[in-house]
Amino acid sequence: MHLSTRSLLTSLFLGVAVAYSNVSESTCEHLSKALGDEVFYPESPAYNASITSYPFIQLRLEPACVLKPESAEDVSKAVKVLRKSRKSKFAVRGGGHNANVGYNNIIDGATIDMRNVSKVEIVGDVVQVGAGAIWQQVYDEISPHNISVMGGRIGVVGVGGFLTGGGISFFSPELGWSCDYVQNFQIVLATGEIVNANATSKPELFAALKGGQSNFGIVTRFDLKHFPVGNLWGGRVAFAPTADNDLIEAFTNLKNPDNFDPYAAGWVTNRYNGTAKTFTPTAIIWYTKAESAPGAWKNVSDIEPKVMNGLTTAPLVDFARNASMVVKTQQTNTIWATTTFRMTPTLAHSIHKKWKALIPKVAETYPGIVSELTFQSLAKVPDAATPNSFGFSADSHPEKDGVFLQIIFYFMDASYLPGLESALADFINIFDNLSEAEGAKSKFVYLNFAAAFQEPLKSYGESELWKLRRTSKKYDPEGFFQRQLPGGFKLFNETDEHYHHWW
Ligand SMILES: Cc1cc2nc3c(=O)[nH]c(=O)nc-3n(C[C@H](O)[C@H](O)[C@H](O)COP(=O)(O)OP(=O)(O)OC[C@H]3O[C@@H](n4cnc5c(N)ncnc54)[C@H](O)[C@@H]3O)c2cc1C
Ligand SMILES: *[C@@H]1O[C@H](CO)[C@@H](O)[C@H](O)[C@H]1NC(C)=O
Ligand SMILES: *[C@@H]1O[C@H](CO)[C@@H](O)[C@H](O)[C@H]1NC(C)=O
Ligand SMILES: *[C@@H]1O[C@H](CO)[C@@H](O)[C@H](O)[C@H]1NC(C)=O
Ligand SMILES: *[C@@H]1O[C@H](CO)[C@@H](O)[C@H](O)[C@H]1NC(C)=O
Ligand SMILES: *[C@@H]1O[C@H](CO)[C@@H](O)[C@H](O)[C@H]1NC(C)=O
Ligand SMILES: *[C@@H]1O[C@H](CO)[C@@H](O)[C@H](O)[C@H]1NC(C)=O
Ligand SMILES: *[C@@H]1O[C@H](CO)[C@@H](O)[C@H](O)[C@H]1NC(C)=O
Ligand SMILES: *[C@@H]1O[C@H](CO)[C@@H](O)[C@H](O)[C@H]1NC(C)=O
Ligand SMILES: *[C@@H]1O[C@H](CO)[C@@H](O)[C@H](O)[C@H]1NC(C)=O
Ligand SMILES: *[C@@H]1O[C@H](CO)[C@@H](O)[C@H](O)[C@H]1NC(C)=O
Repeated sequence: MHLSTRSLLTSLFLGVAVAYSNVSESTCEHLSKALGDEVFYPESPAYNASITSYPFIQLRLEPACVLKPESAEDVSKAVKVLRKSRKSKFAVRGGGHNANVGYNNIIDGATIDMRNVSKVEIVGDVVQVGAGAIWQQVYDEISPHNISVMGGRIGVVGVGGFLTGGGISFFSPELGWSCDYVQNFQIVLATGEIVNANATSKPELFAALKGGQSNFGIVTRFDLKHFPVGNLWGGRVAFAPTADNDLIEAFTNLKNPDNFDPYAAGWVTNRYNGTAKTFTPTAIIWYTKAESAPGAWKNVSDIEPKVMNGLTTAPLVDFARNASMVVKTQQTNTIWATTTFRMTPTLAHSIHKKWKALIPKVAETYPGIVSELTFQSLAKVPDAATPNSFGFSADSHPEKDGVFLQIIFYFMDASYLPGLESALADFINIFDNLSEAEGAKSKFVYLNFAAAFQEPLKSYGESELWKLRRTSKKYDPEGFFQRQLPGGFKLFNETDEHYHHWW
């Protein structure tokens, strides 16, 4: 029955297909008809501004058109148009900070740039945030009221991808994933309907949106619980190359569950500059209870010699703004991958040692690269009553000894992309083998830092994956977001045995 419906639709649309030279052109024409002056074509300043605003060079693909909706209603109209032609492909772009090519932009199709859907408003005990906002807009709006929300630590990052993929915030060791503090998602479903997903209405969709990202619809608004906030202590500290082992040792101690400190947030990094052939160990740290700082970060802040010390006490909004400067000025190709483990006395050291030995060799093959190895803490697990999709058991405490790492490459020469992607895959294998050998590997892969070759949705576990697929089938029975939105981590793909069975 499905098959005959599909062939009927295909033949109906053949008529449209011949009227235009190709599918994406016809799609853009239809979008223009429905949304008028919100659709932009190549050569227009708004189109150019949208493409050049992607933070990483490799993301600047040129779609047939860029749609800049202003409201949930506009997004709904667009979805209806796109769904009508079963062949048109599109992309959804929030803050544009996912590093995987094709996840937030598309070559032969329409890109929905959500950045004009960005109103931020305090309404009772929540902050309503348009899904195209960036965190700096949110903090700028709410910080005069001495309140905050669970959001990004770097202002330029978008709320859309961040919250649907999880979101590690300043307060995550104490409170959990940022997505767990979304009280309500307003979302446009495949039908074009604008609905709410929250604890009492569509609870399975509510859970699925906390980790399932773009598989269910286009989120148009997040209602975020807010809470009072004072100053934070912290900032960026760079050390001399000789301090690298001390830094890894201090982070290893911090991740000893006996030392768990819910107010200690941030990460430690070693950076290799392939041009200068130098290492720079760095800590980006915060203590959310400023009056008791540095708390568990004491061992890190005591490390010498320092080459730069930005540690200070200031409002959250200032930290988020300052941290953006580095990203804004970088303008390179940037790619990353991630993996997760339980800290042991030796594991971070052996991972770091391996990376340090191998990275100069990678830089010989790919001159001019910069690479970082970063260690961060996982977040607390939410209350069983309002689960997310990550699959951690309710009685586990990943915030105490759980660590995810990132390997990042920055480079100017686009031809390095495939080679460095395979270097990322090799590093992940090597690191996973090291953690496996210590019995400390976690299957969890944090979606927001996962490379396209990784499988974060699968990493949530069979039972979570099954729930996500069931939710997709319920709210998107024709697989619109699986077939026509090719970017992002998908629940189904055409080589998957489930795919043909479901559709
Ligand atoms: C400099 C920097 C700092 C970072 N800091 C942190 C951090 O502190 N904590 C942390 O957890 N992560 C952090 N990240 C990772 C970040 O969470 C991801 O990069 C995330 O993808 C950013 O979201 P975005 O909206 O900017 O990205 P986008 O690339 O626009 O979106 C990512 C994905 O989500 C989809 N998407 C976006 N908006 C919507 C929507 N409204 N509805 C449905 N799908 C949508 C897109 O289609 C895309 O596939 C950081 C990344 C960078 C580059
Ligand atoms: C496109 O935008 C970039 C960055 O804003 C600008 O430097 C460039 O001149 C623009 N190009 C055109 C053709 O408008
Ligand atoms: C379709 O049109 C778009 C926009 O004009 C163009 O970029 C793309 O290459 C075309 N695709 C095909 C398959 O012809
Ligand atoms: C929407 O986007 C357009 C084009 O980039 C811009 O000129 C306009 O100011 C934006 N509107 C709002 C409300 O942000
Ligand atoms: C916010 O806190 C500052 C510093 O304590 C105080 O001066 C200001 O009045 C507070 N603002 C509000 C809206 O409470
Ligand atoms: C949950 O969704 C329902 C249905 O739209 C809505 O009436 C209710 O206000 C929402 N709850 C919250 C907390 O937003
Ligand atoms: C700080 O370092 C000391 C000495 O190595 C160690 O015993 C202690 O556990 C560390 N404390 C924290 C909070 O990491
Ligand atoms: C790497 O080193 C070169 C040469 O010293 C320098 O010009 C460049 O700014 C450095 N890059 C980064 C990202 O630190
Ligand atoms: C932000 O940067 C400015 C200029 O370098 C500095 O004076 C200020 O202390 C920084 N604030 C924070 C919170 O890092
Ligand atoms: C990791 O371990 C697997 C299985 O033991 C092995 O096949 C693989 O070669 C190892 N990979 C690396 C990069 O060491
Ligand atoms: C498709 O799904 C299968 C089964 O989940 C997976 O093994 C495979 O890697 C996926 N392929 C792509 C291209 O994503």
